[in-house]
Amino acid sequence: MTDDVTETQSDAKEARGRTAAVRCTVNGEAVTLHAHPLARLLDVLREELRLTGTKEGCGEGECGACSVLIDGELVNSCLVPAAQVEGAEILTVEGVADGERLHAVQQAMIECGGAQCGICTPGMVLAAIHLLGRTPQPTEADIREGLAGNLCRCTGYMKIFDAVVRACGK
Ligand code: FES
Ligand code: FES
Repeated sequence: MTDDVTETQSDAKEARGRTAAVRCTVNGEAVTLHAHPLARLLDVLREELRLTGTKEGCGEGECGACSVLIDGELVNSCLVPAAQVEGAEILTVEGVADGERLHAVQQAMIECGGAQCGICTPGMVLAAIHLLGRTPQPTEADIREGLAGNLCRCTGYMKIFDAVVRACGK
C-alpha cells in the first residue's frame, strides 16, 4: 500500500514535470516554448521568456492585468494553457513599441498620467490597442466597453480613458 502511494505520488510528480515543445510567434519572433502543456501562458511568458511586462493580478481571469493579444484577440494569459498557443501569434506589451518609438497608446498614457503603480498598465495598453485596431474612432461607450475587462486600483480610470481618446486623435 505504501509502495502504491509512493508510486502514485512519483507518477504525479513526473507528469507535472513533463514538458512539451510549443512553437509560436511572440512579438514577431518565432520561438519554441518548453513548458508543461497546462502551464499558464502568463507564467511561460514571464519565467521562460522573461517577458515580465505581462502582470499577474488576480490569476482568475477577472482583472485583465495579464492581457496579451493572441492572433489579434485580447485574452487573459492566466487562463490560457501553453499547449493552446501552438502556431499562434502572441503580442505582449514588450512588442508594442517600434524600437525606441512608443506606440501612440503608450505615449498617451504617459502624457495623460494614465499609469500609477503600473500593474494594470500593460493590460490596459493592449486592451486599448485591441479596441483601436477594431474601432479607430471609438465613442465613449466603445472605450468603456473596450476597457471593461481591465481593472485599475489607482487611477479612477478617467486618465486612462483620456489617454485612449488622445491616442485616437480626438
Ligand atoms: Fe489574469 Fe487577473 S491575472 S485576469
Ligand atoms: Fe495601479 Fe492601475 S495604475 S492598478
